[in-house]
Amino acid sequence: MNIKIFSRILGLMAVILLNIALLPTFCNAKKLSEGDKNGEILTPAPNLNPRINGPLVYGCRPGHPFLYRIPCQGKRPIAFKIKGLPSELKLDPVTGIISGTVPGKGVYEILINARNSEGKDTRKLKIVAGEQLALTPPMGWNHWYAHYDRITDKMMREAADVMISSGMADVGYQYVNIDDCWMNAEKNSDPLRVGPLRDDKGNVIPNKHFPDMKGLTTYIHTKGLKAGIYTSPGPRTCGGFAGAWQHEDQDANQFANWGFDFLKYDWCSYGELAGENVSLAGFQKPYQQMGKILKSQDRDIVFNLCQYGMGDVWKWGGEVDAHCWRTGGDLGFELDRIFDVALKNAQIGQYNKPGEWNDPDYIQIGWIGNANKMGIPELTPMPANMQYAYMSLWSLLAAPLIYSGDMSKLDAFTLNILCNPEVIAVNQDPLGKCAEVIHRDSVSFIMVKPLSDGSTAVGLFNRGKTTADVSVVWSELKISGDHHVRDLWREKDLGFSVDKFSTAVPPEGVVMIRISK
Ligand code: GLA
Repeated sequence: MNIKIFSRILGLMAVILLNIALLPTFCNAKKLSEGDKNGEILTPAPNLNPRINGPLVYGCRPGHPFLYRIPCQGKRPIAFKIKGLPSELKLDPVTGIISGTVPGKGVYEILINARNSEGKDTRKLKIVAGEQLALTPPMGWNHWYAHYDRITDKMMREAADVMISSGMADVGYQYVNIDDCWMNAEKNSDPLRVGPLRDDKGNVIPNKHFPDMKGLTTYIHTKGLKAGIYTSPGPRTCGGFAGAWQHEDQDANQFANWGFDFLKYDWCSYGELAGENVSLAGFQKPYQQMGKILKSQDRDIVFNLCQYGMGDVWKWGGEVDAHCWRTGGDLGFELDRIFDVALKNAQIGQYNKPGEWNDPDYIQIGWIGNANKMGIPELTPMPANMQYAYMSLWSLLAAPLIYSGDMSKLDAFTLNILCNPEVIAVNQDPLGKCAEVIHRDSVSFIMVKPLSDGSTAVGLFNRGKTTADVSVVWSELKISGDHHVRDLWREKDLGFSVDKFSTAVPPEGVVMIRISK
């Protein structure tokens, strides 16, 4: 073989080998780009040193089981320590999970310390042992808009795994909630979801996709996360599965015994029992009943009303011992109306307060199934800018932050929207105020939320299809003089201003800032 041909063969072999070596990289790149094609990532990657996130106040009821995983970003292993932890509680220094029994009524101020090879962080947390739960809006995941009637025990466990591995739990996501379709139905296209609704003692029977409810909550709790479940006050859920009607006590006891920490109670077929022209008392009746039952359980169960805003639920949700209530229909059908839905919620913002939250429904970004056909998850067609606006709106409204997309397909762009700790801190602020709309014209609007440290979160929104210049003037905020402005999405200081802040806001998007003295 002459030298020329030999070196050609060598060259060709090198190219083939290089391609084989690069193949996985190309595959990964393709996989990532499917999600990342959404848009520019603004949230800076978390630093390696610890950053403790999560609420500054946490409500719980004396004598009940206590479970709290310290949300903390940074390179693991992280060593956790706590000063002032009541003796009834213990800390796992490796996982940062605090567990035990809620101590007697009172406020316990603890100081959390997190240290790793790169540095340390400290943060105060007030544990408020009393009557109230959900002192800040609940954060978590719900299966509905990703998996509908395809949900299984395995998928729930995987979602809990991903809540930890993706870093979502490190910024405060906590509840892993099953929605409809975990029970049996009389008729369903999936034979594994068909069977007797109750046993001979009247206990509700989970379908074959949920063989071990206690095992499932234990799995979720072991990770320091909490578990949620769903039913209806009617005989059937909206999906046609067994509801709690005439078994309310028994089912609530069952949920508590299984170890659930959250109940979504969905009106559905109760409408047939309530009839037409329902009175206010009629709307309240099933929720009042379940509110009392849940309160009498010996574990903390957050009570989430789902009755689509009927009877102005925001005016009385707190009175029936609920912690959050849906203010409208299913947002899955209205994803093109995010701005309108948010503006409508801002109008009833005065009903928001610690322990009582208006709920405009879930965050549906990333891979979600079309609500009209209960579809298989696909990448959301929502423009990237609007996704930033969506998360900003829910944070400013102090709405529950419950993600409802496919956890197994979370991509870097979606996580950047879900996991910005400075944006989340606005949502979790202990004052619990809903933002007010201080300016609105045909294209833009401005939302303002006062925060507990005296600073103000401001969302400058543009609904138009082209970039718009939007300004917020200090006098509109009832402040004056030099104020510091920080871009929350970019986590970047923008300097000081004496009278106003003006910015170009991207089409269908937002600029979200925090203004402080
Ligand atoms: C209703 C609720 C949804 C979901 C489905 C389940 O439509 O509003 O959030 O729980 O029922 O069937």
